[in-house]
Amino acid sequence: MGRYIIRGGRAISGTLSVQGAKNSALPIMAACILSTGKSVLDNVPRLTDVQVMAEIMQMAGAKVAWTGNSTLSIDCTDVDNGDVPEHLMRRMRSSFIVVGPLLGRLGRVRVTYPGGCAIGTRAIDLHLMGLSKLGARITPTNSGYIEFQAEKLRGTQIDLDIPSVGATENIMMAAVTAQGTTVISNPAREPEIVDLQCFLNKLGAKVSGAGSDVIVIEGVESLGAARHSIIPDRIAAGTLLVAAAVTGGDVTLTDVVPGHLSVVIAKLREMGAEIETQANSIRIVSRGKLQSVNKIVTAPYPGFPTDMQPQFMAALATARGVSVLTEKIFDGRFKHIDELRRMGANISVDNRTAIIRGVETLYGTNVVATDLRAGAALVIAALGAQGVTVVEGVSHIDRGYVALEQQLLTLGADITRREGEWA
Ligand code: UD1
Repeated sequence: MGRYIIRGGRAISGTLSVQGAKNSALPIMAACILSTGKSVLDNVPRLTDVQVMAEIMQMAGAKVAWTGNSTLSIDCTDVDNGDVPEHLMRRMRSSFIVVGPLLGRLGRVRVTYPGGCAIGTRAIDLHLMGLSKLGARITPTNSGYIEFQAEKLRGTQIDLDIPSVGATENIMMAAVTAQGTTVISNPAREPEIVDLQCFLNKLGAKVSGAGSDVIVIEGVESLGAARHSIIPDRIAAGTLLVAAAVTGGDVTLTDVVPGHLSVVIAKLREMGAEIETQANSIRIVSRGKLQSVNKIVTAPYPGFPTDMQPQFMAALATARGVSVLTEKIFDGRFKHIDELRRMGANISVDNRTAIIRGVETLYGTNVVATDLRAGAALVIAALGAQGVTVVEGVSHIDRGYVALEQQLLTLGADITRREGEWA
């Protein structure tokens, strides 16, 4: 049970390199299962979710080893086990994306329903629909497991009602070694999907269209190995930008793709921050109080990311005026509001819309991170607050940020991490 102790009111400043993307690293690690060889992944963020994925892969028969802090070698030559135990499946939602590659490789998979952040209903019906259309026989068992079987998957047309990130990835990975061509219409268009396509093609797959509204996958017999560098984490970058905006800071982020953050940057500018972008860097300068925004509505990429909604809520809590923020992707992603209210925020909720009336300042107190991005939001609120805030539940934050406290210390924040039971 780790916690952060944060003394607010200090502007953060300096230059920081952005970590590799969690949401890219996880599916790309899973994609290695399709390869009979040793792949090397660079710029992998060393996070607890990445560790869980490594354990799942080792369980399947892969050899996984770190070189330094961000290079991961994954040898899947001996992958032979499609049974993933419940305790690993439950540790994160993304565990489910191993189903597609395991099915493609072994023709048989046995998993439980996935776990993950407590941010609302996270269905898997689209994953099941897609895999079933590719020819998998899917049998739920009494013990809570689901079995997938297919001697040979067959390419087909798959239309997604919702552009689900995980379902798109699972279907892409199952389809790369299927017989014939698979067409996914209305797939997710996130940069992480493009990164997955890039890696799969390096392995020898024939995937095109990622980032657009149709992905085409021509099945190939088998895949080799490759070296690949994971794209920068746009949500980790966005979180640091919001932290800089709230504290009146001056921060330059390097090793980032500004184009992946267009909407986030536009909203921060609307709030009064000055932002300059170059090919691989972003500088934010924030002076004085932020302004409210009329409307933020979360949407699939390239819309406003749901993974930035809690952090913006924290920033808007002390902006001048009234902001309206609607969460359209997840139905339970407002758990940070109660904690922000404990710090003095004035936020009312009507169904999936939050109305945030900016207050002069937030005040330090004890708060609890209930999920990953809620945790990031509380850290941001604490950095801008008067006095000392204790953020409990840092293990949630560790799922997505590589030593966030170190990153913020580098930028001059007053933050300490303590392990152990509650004070
Ligand atoms: C991924 C990201 C997560 C981000 C989310 C939305 C990873 C590891 N995680 O999660 O950080 O918040 O995208 O950008 O990449 N849905 C269904 N049926 C399904 C699948 C999804 O109804 O079979 C719904 C979900 O309940 C949710 C919406 O689709 O309302 C989006 O979910 P999805 O894109 O699948 O999110 P994840 O892949 O879980």
